[in-house]
Amino acid sequence: MKAAEAIDWVKAPSFALNDANAPLYEWYTDAMVNTCFNAVDRHVNAGRGEQAAIIYDSPITGIKHHISFADLLEKTARLAGALKMQGIQKGDRVIIYMPMVPNALVAMLACARIGAIHSVVFGGFAANELAIRIDDAQPKVILAASCGLEPGRVIAYKPLIDSAIEQSHHKPETVIILQRPELKADLIEGRDIDWQMAQRGVVPADCLAVEGNHPAYILYTSGTTGAPKGVVRPTAGHLVALHWSMKNIYDVDPGDVFWAASDVGWVVGHSYICYAPLIHGNTTVLFEGKPIGTPDAGTFWRVISEHNVRSFFTAPTAFRAIKREDPDGKFRQKYDLSCLKALYLAGERADPDTIHWAQNLLGVPVIDHWWQTETGWTIAGNPMGIESLPIKVGSPSVAMPGYDIQILDERGHQVGPDTLGAIAIKLPLPPGTFPTLWNAQDRFHKSYLMAFPGYYETGDAGMIDEDGYVYVMARTDDVINVAGHRLSTGAMEEVLANHPDVAECAVIGVTDALKGQLPVGFLCLTNGVNRPHEIIVKECISMMREQIGPVAAFKLATVINRLPKTRSGKILRATMGKIADSKAFKMPATIDDPIILDEIREALIPLGYAK
Ligand code: COA
Ligand code: AMP
Repeated sequence: MKAAEAIDWVKAPSFALNDANAPLYEWYTDAMVNTCFNAVDRHVNAGRGEQAAIIYDSPITGIKHHISFADLLEKTARLAGALKMQGIQKGDRVIIYMPMVPNALVAMLACARIGAIHSVVFGGFAANELAIRIDDAQPKVILAASCGLEPGRVIAYKPLIDSAIEQSHHKPETVIILQRPELKADLIEGRDIDWQMAQRGVVPADCLAVEGNHPAYILYTSGTTGAPKGVVRPTAGHLVALHWSMKNIYDVDPGDVFWAASDVGWVVGHSYICYAPLIHGNTTVLFEGKPIGTPDAGTFWRVISEHNVRSFFTAPTAFRAIKREDPDGKFRQKYDLSCLKALYLAGERADPDTIHWAQNLLGVPVIDHWWQTETGWTIAGNPMGIESLPIKVGSPSVAMPGYDIQILDERGHQVGPDTLGAIAIKLPLPPGTFPTLWNAQDRFHKSYLMAFPGYYETGDAGMIDEDGYVYVMARTDDVINVAGHRLSTGAMEEVLANHPDVAECAVIGVTDALKGQLPVGFLCLTNGVNRPHEIIVKECISMMREQIGPVAAFKLATVINRLPKTRSGKILRATMGKIADSKAFKMPATIDDPIILDEIREALIPLGYAK
């Protein structure tokens, strides 16, 4: 309730936790509030109108410009007006499929302004993934750009959108397209509208107050099966937790420049490119580029120095990419980085080598912190704005307020210090997290609450030491983490199983020095298929790119005779992963035929694994 005082409520909450439907919990249910007002309007009202809200820096296009809070208010109110003209009302869904341009943030805020529920889909996903999200979220409108820009390649978004709408059962009424000069899209009459035209002559929309538990957004994330999970983020808890985190975790004051080098399509982009910095009155940097190659491994240092970034947040994989390109940190020497006070890493396990290298290079604390799409903000971290705890490399430090983290054994009993187990969080989860999955209450129960009654199952395994430091070691499910991107091996197996020559398959994550993990596919062919294996492998790789998207980074697959299984028919994916990474493993007692493991090893060697 104290933290909630930092938010401008239309009606302040009279109580914090609503446990009437436990184990489903809500926060600040009886409040009335608007997210966009808190992220934009209130700063203009308080005299910060001229402060930069967004610094757009796009080394890919060469564009750099500032958008003040006053500009952002004007743009957001106008786009919100255009959405209203298209019939969007409170509770309607809007899908946003956009690259890293300021209009993406304007689109998110415009939805929030009128109580529409946005669902941002990452640009690296293919049409099929977009179609799955369209069918689940059932948007009236899609806001999109004509193209995205990857180094050396323009990605036409419009054909992907057209194909997704063709594949989906639900048909959005309107697609509003931002035409980027790099590639204009052809518009379909009667359905598609140009971004500027859609706003012509509209009345700018005011902020609409919504209930504390009104969904601010749905963000799909990977689970065990092919169907992504739609994490629902309620409005009030989101506002309170994100505001609180900016000073207490990231140690920035209003007016400071904060930069999260991620993408608006991921939770880090939602929380720390868009909402949290703006709600807190910070300037957020929107960077359209990569850590290397746009144009070089010094691009991060240029952005930090040029825009006076105080706190910087990225994924360890970005640092591994820079280290590979510039191991001696020569580029860093060109820039004055005295503005930078700390580096924050999340999205995947931060390996000690990367942490040490970053610390030596930058001379500032390197803070690992652990969280998930589901939680929306830090579960375990180092609260730099309260007190800077000693860093233990390999640990994202301690539980943040509101999270009761416990390590449980298979039967759900708490284990002692330094003992590996499932990482669970005692219910309730704090404000800013999630109360359910969109359209999937049962799945929410099954995926998160059923394994350990009274707890939220994180899907991560690890331990807690004597001092309360948490260590996050691995996933306990079929989720892998590729360059900080969360992907489902189950979803990949569904794609491979659709190849006409594939009878059975498995996808596992193997260790990669740059991306953390990479997927590898094992294919067992249907009897009688005698087409060359290289061709079948190639076809599978291109199916994955077409159906999941380039972000899956699926480039390794091999044909084998049989999959290693238990006598009850369960594929031994974990054992296969250990063989690939040349790690010791215990022969599973229930294995059907141990000889198959030798075949797996032989198949992995030509791919560069199991050496
Ligand atoms: N739209 C379309 N395609 C995209 C895309 C987007 N928004 N983002 C990535 N892709 C494509 C890439 O072009 C690449 O395609 P390719 O196979 O043709 O080369 C593929 O998806 C994989 O992309 P990426 O994971 O970015 O790998 P990379 O090899 O291009 O770059 C890194 C490697 C380490 C530099 C890069 O992964 C990176 O910057 N990672 C940081 C991750 C991050 O911020 N994660 C967010 C969690 S905090
Ligand atoms: P996402 O939902 O995409 O943010 O992915 C969340 C998952 O990424 C977590 O469940 C972990 O498996 C992993 N992860 C994120 N941050 C860390 C971290 N700091 N250390 C270890 N794993 C992490």
